[in-house]
Amino acid sequence: MTAIWDDELATVERDGTVSEPMVRQAARWLAARHAPGTGSRVLDVGSGPGCATVVLAEEFPGSEVVAVDPTEKFTARAAARFAERGLGERVRAEPGAIGDPSLAALAPADVVWCAHVVHHLPDPVAALRELSALLAPASGVLAVAEGGLPSRFLPGGYGVGLPSFVNRLEATLSDYFVETWSLTGAAVGGGRDWPLLFADAGLRHHASRTFLLDLPAPVSDDVRRHVVDRFTRIQRLIGDRLTSQDAAALARLLDPADSAALANRPDLFVLQATTWHLAGVDI
Ligand SMILES: C[S@@+](CC[C@H](N)C(=O)[O-])C[C@H]1O[C@@H](n2cnc3c(N)ncnc32)[C@H](O)[C@@H]1O
Repeated sequence: MTAIWDDELATVERDGTVSEPMVRQAARWLAARHAPGTGSRVLDVGSGPGCATVVLAEEFPGSEVVAVDPTEKFTARAAARFAERGLGERVRAEPGAIGDPSLAALAPADVVWCAHVVHHLPDPVAALRELSALLAPASGVLAVAEGGLPSRFLPGGYGVGLPSFVNRLEATLSDYFVETWSLTGAAVGGGRDWPLLFADAGLRHHASRTFLLDLPAPVSDDVRRHVVDRFTRIQRLIGDRLTSQDAAALARLLDPADSAALANRPDLFVLQATTWHLAGVDI
């Protein structure tokens, strides 16, 4: 499973960097509801390269914060990030995976944060059970970020091809991910939402809230690069599934010589909505 992630470091890191303002809102919301004191432990399970872990370290300043991920490249990058930020011994990265019994050594945790991981796993309910076993009895909180809305980057139909182009692009991408991840046995697209899955795992659902990543035009060069990279990847993944008309529209978005291209559009923005769900052990 981790081999799948090896080539994704650059993408996951760019996503994590651009999403930071949204992740910070979610972390602040969590810290306002549940602020364990000095000496508490926060785990970021499936941390990737540790972008959100840094935010957690800042929003939970009295806590030991541990980034856990099975992909060695990611934990190495996370450790380098923490050193670059001068976060000291309070924040560290460790190998570990949901499904590996050694994860239990990190219990008890006051907060278990797990973003965009559980839906990739073959049995999300078993994964939630395993995460809940890491929580401090009675008081620990599990924060799972999953789902939201498809992101948008340009007004209307993106000004290329038919106005419905953007909807077909999203639908094709969504089908592609469900099919690809199903090959690994993942349960993506199962159609049951997280409060129900929490109940199946013996967890009590406390709250859900959706946060926006709202980066309006004009965007910075870094954000524009992130969007261009994202569409380049979309073209690589699903270009051959599009109609010739939609493929031509996508090519226009990526052609730097075209005034309608992402690289040239002054109206480029990022609007993304991600939902965080909080749960605790049902006692
Ligand atoms: C989409 S990335 C999310 C990274 C980060 N949480 C974020 O929100 O940016 C999914 C991460 O899950 C990790 N992962 C894969 N299998 C896992 C498992 N069984 N337990 C924990 N993490 C896993 C991958 O290595 C990857 O870093």
